[in-house]
Amino acid sequence: PAPGWTVQADVVVVGSGIAGLTLALRYADLDPEAKVLVVTKDVLSAGSTRWAQGGIAAVLDPGDTPAEHLSDTLIAGVGLCDEEAVRVLVTEGPDALRGLIAAGARFDTDDSGELQLTREGGHRRNRIVHAGGDATGAEVQRALVQAVRESAIEVIEHALVLDLLKDAGGRAAGVTLHVMGEGERDGVGAVTAGSVVLATGGMGQVYAATTNPVVSTGDGVALALRAGAVVRDLEFVQFHPTVLWLGEDSTGQQPLISEAVRGEGAVLVDADGTGFMKDVHELADLAPRDVVAKAIMRRMRETGADHMYLDARHFGEEKWRTRFPTIHAVCLEYGIDPVTDLIPVAPAAHYASGGVRTDLHGRTSVPGLYACGEVACTGVHGANRLASNSLLEGLVFAGRIAADIHRARRAASGEGGTRPGEPVPDDRPAGLIDPRARARIQGHMSRGASVLRSEESLSEVARALLNVRWTPVAVEPCTESWETTNLLTVASALVAAARGRRETRGSHWREDFSERNDAWWLGHLDVTLTAEGT
Ligand code: SIN
Repeated sequence: PAPGWTVQADVVVVGSGIAGLTLALRYADLDPEAKVLVVTKDVLSAGSTRWAQGGIAAVLDPGDTPAEHLSDTLIAGVGLCDEEAVRVLVTEGPDALRGLIAAGARFDTDDSGELQLTREGGHRRNRIVHAGGDATGAEVQRALVQAVRESAIEVIEHALVLDLLKDAGGRAAGVTLHVMGEGERDGVGAVTAGSVVLATGGMGQVYAATTNPVVSTGDGVALALRAGAVVRDLEFVQFHPTVLWLGEDSTGQQPLISEAVRGEGAVLVDADGTGFMKDVHELADLAPRDVVAKAIMRRMRETGADHMYLDARHFGEEKWRTRFPTIHAVCLEYGIDPVTDLIPVAPAAHYASGGVRTDLHGRTSVPGLYACGEVACTGVHGANRLASNSLLEGLVFAGRIAADIHRARRAASGEGGTRPGEPVPDDRPAGLIDPRARARIQGHMSRGASVLRSEESLSEVARALLNVRWTPVAVEPCTESWETTNLLTVASALVAAARGRRETRGSHWREDFSERNDAWWLGHLDVTLTAEGT
């Protein structure tokens, strides 16, 4: 749709989690004269970051080394990590974390003032810093929002990103937005900017049950696909093993029970109280996330149960209240006292390990377009992300992208440099999907494209998604219809990728190809959009 208003910026950052806000702050530090604009779909403090519990993984213990963090990350990623990207992550991680602390985030410390370090699945060392016990994301978000509010960075809230604008040479030149209720910037508008950064987070809302907030509708991946950018590894959706089980029909955002609970000694048991992880993996309850999720699913099948349990009764009241206050309160809210009761848990969609393909500087395949955080596929997660590497990835690559944009802008303003051109108007019809289809899309994805997949289940989902696409309904352009359109786009791309990978690896589990097959599949699946969808 044609924009009704235009705002000019030098750098536009789409999204306001750890990746987007860190990037905006880092860029503003490097280039105080530049106009940095953050646009965000809800308010600045909404999004996935604030829901993160466990923490941020970084090598801080003198007994730990980047080589060990690298090794744990590569093992969790089951052969598909980009080793160079992981090396960047683990070596630059500690400094990036110190930068976050300097920006105002306060992490939990011991009596001598040293950062407390805990453990989660797949880590062979204690290296996870946390805040407020199990409220790490909330503290990180608080600190970053405050720092942005105190800076010259401009913000537009309630702004859903629609499409990428390009100049005549195919370079990113800005984005179109749909803004709700922001005075003169109400309705569809445009931001022109020579550097565009997607930091829109994940796509967990393609499933009926997810730990992701309602805003995680894959907007950045959908935009990138429409803009012709390469998207990679979408089949690797991580299912968090221990999400509070609220009944089979419970949909929407589900409460997370952090892996740190197992890191501190909780064990998974079945309805008979029998632990089952010891026989599955040498790290038992602290095996990598995909291993634990699969073991839970198997035990559920063997016993006919629809959930398993976490036993952390031995923590006692004091530890529950002080170390895991958020989880403790949520359990009590649902009538479960973790001091006396087992906690019912089951896997639910949690994190997109794939996304918009980038290089080591966050550059996508479209010049001038960057991706940072969960929306990106930097190569650090491979087929299965290591716990608490996600906030770290946002921090580390935000700094790299800020530096790259700064370098590029300086080169462009120098003699003979290429400046970004004017955006070419985009007059394509919107082709929007009825918002009432959202629950249908989520239901199909959860039934046929979640933890367990097969050609049969995936082809049924693909057919159902095509039906949604071709059901003719006159649709009003509004946030809900754009979000539903994005959900359909990313769901279709995810299903195409999942059908394409005919093996089982990491968080991609095919019942009909149940073995890992390194001879054929030690590579990546890149997805681009065709006229029909994917
Ligand atoms: C958790 O606290 O279990 C989640 C951590 C993560 O997703 O990395």
